[in-house]
Amino acid sequence: MKPLCIILFVIAAAIVVGCTDPDVPITLDETPYPVRFEDLPEPILPTDYPLTQTRVSLGRTLFHDGQLSRTGTQSCATCHSQAAAFSDNRKYSIGVRGLPGTRQAMALVNLAWSDRGFFWDGRSPTLRDQALHPIVDTLEMDETLDNVVRKLSTSSMYRSMFTRAFGSDSITPERIGIALEQFMLILISGQSKYDRALAGYAVLSETEERGRQLFMREFDPTYKKKGAECFHCHAAPFFTNDRFMNNGLDDDAMFLDLGRERVTGLASDRAKFRVPTLRNIARTAPYMHDGRFKTLEEVVDFYNIGVRRSSTVDALMQFNLAPGLKLDAQDKADLVAFLKTLTDEQFLTNPLYRMP
Ligand code: HEC
Ligand code: HEC
Repeated sequence: MKPLCIILFVIAAAIVVGCTDPDVPITLDETPYPVRFEDLPEPILPTDYPLTQTRVSLGRTLFHDGQLSRTGTQSCATCHSQAAAFSDNRKYSIGVRGLPGTRQAMALVNLAWSDRGFFWDGRSPTLRDQALHPIVDTLEMDETLDNVVRKLSTSSMYRSMFTRAFGSDSITPERIGIALEQFMLILISGQSKYDRALAGYAVLSETEERGRQLFMREFDPTYKKKGAECFHCHAAPFFTNDRFMNNGLDDDAMFLDLGRERVTGLASDRAKFRVPTLRNIARTAPYMHDGRFKTLEEVVDFYNIGVRRSSTVDALMQFNLAPGLKLDAQDKADLVAFLKTLTDEQFLTNPLYRMP
């Protein structure tokens, strides 16, 4: 028996050694990333760098890595936390210098369908360009791109990840931007109670359904059939029309942030901001570009009675004079109940988005 055991052992050892060749080269791996966009329309994805498993995975690692900041302590996820639909529940995020920014961090949801420019004022034309801004912003990560490249280049893990993703271990700002873009493109939310009800898998409660009707109905100046006029701007299925608009938060004398005008230089764009998505809105408080409202109830009160006139307020905000929308307590509760049906637990807990 003994010689047989030895022979078997030698064969087994040979198989093990043969299977783990340490010299297998690390090469470009372009296995496509299977984008799941649920019942949403098909997104327009980049054609120069199609979504691949290796690029998305690199982007995910970078998104959660503090090395992108000067102090090593702040990652994208510090201000864009998954539990808050990749937004920040602080009014203003605090950068690595300990100073607050000047706008509320935006939720990162369904960006694959957004093509009119990123940020509240749309100043960044593409996501891959956008992704590099927070790194160098002194009120955010306060780092130089040269330093980030240097730091990442010392890591053999990153060098092999860049090789698998792009075909060589050269780490450049452009590649960092593309990888972050790929990760942000897969942040897709389309499984809320609202979506499941549309597809027939769930039923909205009475209050949610009344809220849905208010949301989806035009304002009626005769008040015969109350409508809250939300749907033109916050249009389904994305609950945004992706345009820059003034929803009447302030009058001209109160404008502190010029918004879109800072990008176009046009006075007609003064205090216009990108219409934000309302998907997962119950999780992304506080609200508006300056985080002025703490709760959805406050937001609904504002639309009900607080809309102000100004030179650029949108024509759809025609109910800006008293008595406003004339929503009673029940209507307001219904509207808030409907907004909460846009919460997508699968998105908020999706393990594919977590720190790897
Ligand atoms: C210190 C907090 C902070 C950090 C860190 C941060 N962001 Fe942001 N992010 C913000 C704020 C605030 C805004 C809105 C700024 C504005 O509109 O001027 C924003 C906006 C965005 C937007 C625009 C979304 C849209 O719909 O237009 C994207 C995309 C984004 N951030 C991605 C990132 C990425 C990628 C990183 C990491 C490289 C990052 N952010 C790091 C605070 C932060
Ligand atoms: C004329 C277009 C328009 C209409 C109509 C409109 N909104 Fe808005 N909404 C906006 C814009 C623009 C913003 C961002 C404003 C800002 O921050 O300066 C916004 C912001 C919000 C926010 C805060 C989102 C965030 O991420 O901070 C909520 C919630 C909201 N709207 C709900 C509603 C509801 C509910 C209605 C109907 C009662 C409604 N909106 C009607 C354009 C509109």
